[in-house]
Amino acid sequence: MTQLPAAQSPAPQERTSDSSKALYGGKGTRRITVRDITAAKERGEKWPMLTAYDAMTASVFDEAGIPVLLVGDSAGNCHLGYDTTVPVTLDQMAMMSAAVVRGTSRALIVADLPFGSYQEGPVQALRSATRLVKEAGVGAVKLEGGERSRAQTELIVQAGIPVMSHLGLTPQSVNTMGYRVQGRGEEAAQQLLRDAKAAEAAGAFAVVLELVPAELAAEVTRSLHIPTVGIGAGVDCDAQVLVWTDMLGLTPGKMPRFVKQYADLRGAMGDAVKSFARDVVGGAFPAAEHSVH
Ligand code: KIV
Repeated sequence: MTQLPAAQSPAPQERTSDSSKALYGGKGTRRITVRDITAAKERGEKWPMLTAYDAMTASVFDEAGIPVLLVGDSAGNCHLGYDTTVPVTLDQMAMMSAAVVRGTSRALIVADLPFGSYQEGPVQALRSATRLVKEAGVGAVKLEGGERSRAQTELIVQAGIPVMSHLGLTPQSVNTMGYRVQGRGEEAAQQLLRDAKAAEAAGAFAVVLELVPAELAAEVTRSLHIPTVGIGAGVDCDAQVLVWTDMLGLTPGKMPRFVKQYADLRGAMGDAVKSFARDVVGGAFPAAEHSVH
């Protein structure tokens, strides 16, 4: 088993109240690193994470101070028009990740390793992760699975690429798992704890917990030195992540219970483009000030 570098297995330390170092709302302007994420757990500080798939949207979130942006393979559903994350390719992830890196200057950019880019084994996983770091410039990669992805996580981390693990509901396994709450019942809860411990032991710097009971997520959070990032996993996780198109109201249809909608972009955009269309049809656009002579 890999020996963990000290920065990734911090000894519990006293909490500091130095708010200038805060991941959100702090004074720092340089690009955030996984060492900052580790330090935030030591301070007991909570932080927000959002998905991003393109440069312009990412720049809005970066300017708003979101410290970690995930180029998630949720792009399959939210950006590329697929029904699941399964068809997303490494080429697509590299293209979107590079755009998000270009659009930001402070956020740590984490890119998903898409389905089929790491399941064959550690060497394939390292090759895929290396491509996202070298071509796109991301600061870390994310992959699904704890015990089952342990060897992949170890090799990528040994090569110097930080890894975020993803446990609970793992959407790349939709064909075997479906979209159901995970970790219910004693056996499933113990497996989730084992997966979280395996991810930490393999060197992961953080663990996403998707759709697991809040009490179990709290127990996982207490038992790890690395932060947990919850999505549908209750308030006790160290960080919270949402898919941006869900939380800003762009995704059509009924949202899962764990999504809080902070805006209605779908409504606002629909109204705006209808105004434009009416102006064009009625001759109100372009007006004199929009014309050159
Ligand atoms: O792809 C994604 O957006 C994710 C989040 C749901 C954590 O993995």
